[in-house]
Formats: sequence, structure tokens, C-alpha cells
Amino acid sequence: KTLFAAGLMALSHSALAITVGFSQVGSESGWRSSFSQDMKDEAKSRGIDLKFADGQQKQENQIRAVRSFIAQGVDAIIIAPVVETGWTPVLKEAKRARIPVVILDRNIKAAEGLYVTRIASDFTEEGRKAARWLMDKTKGQCNIVELQGTVGATAAIDRAKGFNEVIGAYPQAKIVRSQTAEFTRAKGKEVMESFLKAEDPQSLCALWSHNDEMALGAIQAIKEAGLKPGKDLLVVSVDGVPDYFKAMAEGDANITVELNPHLGAPAYQVVEKVLAGDKGIPKLISTTGEVFGQDTAATEYQKRK
Ligand code: AHR
Repeated sequence: KTLFAAGLMALSHSALAITVGFSQVGSESGWRSSFSQDMKDEAKSRGIDLKFADGQQKQENQIRAVRSFIAQGVDAIIIAPVVETGWTPVLKEAKRARIPVVILDRNIKAAEGLYVTRIASDFTEEGRKAARWLMDKTKGQCNIVELQGTVGATAAIDRAKGFNEVIGAYPQAKIVRSQTAEFTRAKGKEVMESFLKAEDPQSLCALWSHNDEMALGAIQAIKEAGLKPGKDLLVVSVDGVPDYFKAMAEGDANITVELNPHLGAPAYQVVEKVLAGDKGIPKLISTTGEVFGQDTAATEYQKRK
């Protein structure tokens, strides 16, 4: 009798458990890995059955994963999109299957009716914050090299836009080299090496990197070129990963604009609400992050490592 009751309980629990398919960009950065871990931990603590798919930085892999979630009949789909365009057909398929979709982090260009909400930071403002710090520090006189994120990704497009908007007001500040390093450490190092060969390093004042991971690779390249990162070349970036806090604490980097990787709780909250019939969810749920510098870096590193 007890066994029968336990069996019934297990059955009703699995019948009640929400199944969520999550299509993640990949694991290109420390920030992305923390975000993936948070999604897994949070799903576990809420008893959500999570189907996790790593897109390896390719949209076609992400679209294939979403189609497979639809075929499996998941209760909800979460997408952290690699690029902005190209999502409409698969979102229409999810809509036809009556599966709600939540967008996390980067944006998509698609009709608002095709997804429930987007939970994200303001990437344009992150670019502005990085530029404001740099313009204050250098009194607006600075030759900058820029490591861009993945081409077509909101985090690259909008961070560049915000940064350029601010430095546009300073005639003596300009970006002398700019290239994508796809948000990875290895490419960050490679592209920075090429910048240092193409330009007279003495003429450069700062590196503006769209994420910490590329900045960490670039810091290595700057050191190998016999220069002191954080001094000879100021380093400004976005994310706030532990390795970068360590670099700031050691004087190798100057500031980072924090990007919150804890998107699991707000994402699953939305899923739970929408499955319970809530129709009042706003189209954008914003997260924010502050600017961190060398002064607090050692303490922050201890907290975050
Ligand atoms: O979309 C957010 C960006 O993607 C993060 O800044 C970067 O680290 C990641 O790869």
C-alpha cells in the first residue's frame, strides 16, 4: 500500500514537472559558462526538467535545437540567441505548437507576438558607461583599439553604438583599429597581436573590449609585446568575470561594466507565470550592472572566484 502511494506521488510529481528546452549560444566566455550553470542550478532547485542545448556559437545549431524541443512537446522554450536576425520562421513554428518562448540576453528582430518577453541588460548603456570612464580618465584624448564581439550579436552592435555615441563628443578621441574577436580569449589575443603590429604601440592609449574574455587574451598579447596593460595601455571591458577581477587587482586592467549572469530565476519565473495563464508580462525585463575598477577588484575577486 505504501509502495503504491509512493508510486502515485512520483507519477503526479513527474506529471506536474515543467519541461523547458533551453537553447544556449555556446561556451565562448566565462560569463556564458556562469550563465549556463545558473540556468541548470536554478532549474534543479525548482524541479524543472531542463533540456539544455549548446549551440556552439552557430545559429543553425540553435534553430535545430528549438525544432527538436517543439517535436518533443516541451512546455516552454528559452532562447539565448547568438545573432539578432533569422528567428521568425522557427518562432512561428513554436507559436503554432502553442509553446511559449522567452528570450534571454541578446535581442532578436522578430514580431513581438512571437515571444513572451526578453530578459536582458541595456548593452548600449554598457558601452556608454565604459566610454564615460575612459573619457574622464584621459580627458578625451585617446587613440583606442576595439575588440568587437560576434558579428550580428546585440551585445556587439549595441555596446559599439553606446561607446561611439559618448566618444563622438570628444574630437581628440578616436578608434584607430576595430575588429571582431568573437567574444573568445584566443581570438582576443590573436587580434590584439595584429593591432600591435599594425600600429605604433606608443601611439595607443586604450583597449576597448566588448567582453572580459577577449580583454584577457589581449592583456597577454600586450605583455608579450613588452608593454604594461592597465598602464601603458588602459583596458576597459564588460562582464565582470572572476579572472578579469584578478587582472584588475594585479593592475593589468582598469574597469569592467558588470553583466549579471543570474538569469535563471527571472526566466523560470516568467515561464511559471505564463503557464499559469498570466497575460500581463512586460515585453522587456531589464537587468543592470555597475562599473567596477581596481579599487574594489581584490575584494570582488575573493567574493566571486
Ligand atoms: O551576450 C552577452 C555577451 O556574450 C557577454 O558579454 C559575453 O561574454 C558573451 O559571450
